[in-house]
Amino acid sequence: MNATVQEVLKQEFDRLTTMNVGYLGYPLSKDLSYEALAPFLNLQINNVGDPYTPSSLGIDTKEREIEVLTFFSRLLRAAPETTWGYVTNGGSEGNLYGLYLAREAFPNGMVYYSESTHYSVKKNLHLLNIPNIVIRSQENGELDYKDLDQTVRARRHKPAIFFINVGTTMTEAIDQLDKVKAIVRKYAIKDYYIHVDGALAGVMAPFYKNRPSFDFADGIDSISISGHKFIGAPIPCGVVLCKKEHSERVAKSISYVKTKDTTITGSRNGFTPLMLWYALKNMGALGLRKRYNESLELAEYALKRLQAIGYDAWKNPQAITVVLKKPTMEICQKYQLAVQDDMAHIICVPGVEKSQIDALVNDLDSICLVEPEFELPSFDAVLVDF
Ligand SMILES: Cc1ncc(COP(=O)(O)O)c(C=O)c1O
Repeated sequence: MNATVQEVLKQEFDRLTTMNVGYLGYPLSKDLSYEALAPFLNLQINNVGDPYTPSSLGIDTKEREIEVLTFFSRLLRAAPETTWGYVTNGGSEGNLYGLYLAREAFPNGMVYYSESTHYSVKKNLHLLNIPNIVIRSQENGELDYKDLDQTVRARRHKPAIFFINVGTTMTEAIDQLDKVKAIVRKYAIKDYYIHVDGALAGVMAPFYKNRPSFDFADGIDSISISGHKFIGAPIPCGVVLCKKEHSERVAKSISYVKTKDTTITGSRNGFTPLMLWYALKNMGALGLRKRYNESLELAEYALKRLQAIGYDAWKNPQAITVVLKKPTMEICQKYQLAVQDDMAHIICVPGVEKSQIDALVNDLDSICLVEPEFELPSFDAVLVDF
């Protein structure tokens, strides 16, 4: 290898290694161990088209992909014979797909989603050109059911498409499906579709002490989950699952590759299904539960420590995300914290160390201890100056 290329690769690797250790503000697990899959990097792998239909191109990992989908079907209490899905490029694609299926099911439908929903959903709705209304959120990030009720009531003649969050981006809030379904019943809405965005928490919620209703047995039509978040695949990916009747509505046969064109993209990643398969084989459902319990414990520890120094922080009961008042720019940069308005958060994903939480708390504490000598115009402005 050319010496310059080698040097640049080394620098890139070192920088990424440091940055991987340091972040606390993103829901990407850090306990990665995928060396066993390295030899596959020298192979063309392509899961073109429908996972359940072989193509004329035999260089796929579709069998492993189907095993991954079957694992998720079981976890999310879907009947395998009436469920379909595929491994996506991430949570955003799964949401796009769910909304696409919803639009095909109800071309005159109206989408309802909360203001705490991930930013990509607005863009997806724009791409799909579906009429939509943003519903207010409660303080904790959960849907404001009263606002939803009033908004739906005024449009009860229209098919309703509910975009439900199981773990919002900033506060990991859970929209309660029971309450949404109660509104459907109240206004006798016959045509409706429920899509769940479970990017981070869709894979943890089955293990909550108080399991929310959010899966296929509870009546959803589709769900999107990210594979690089809680599970920790090192390349962005995800899983979308839906009722088969919906995917069949959009399926078209393509003679060129002899498979079905059910997915958003044609050529699809064959490496990420292998990563998910490998991770899930190693963890199993019990391993996932253990990871969730450990993450929850760490989040509870972080919250206690922050509250002990009097720092403004809180979390939703079963969340691994701790919401805190936005710290100084320096601290946000040091710990790679995601910020929205005056709010930041830390996400206690697997691989985050207690010592990192302690370091953050100590940094926040030392800043809190500085006595201002004059009237502060605002907490943040002065801390940034300081
Ligand atoms: C709630 C929620 N939905 C969707 C997404 C997008 O997922 P991805 O980054 O896998 O496309 C995110 C990402 O953070 C998210 O938090």
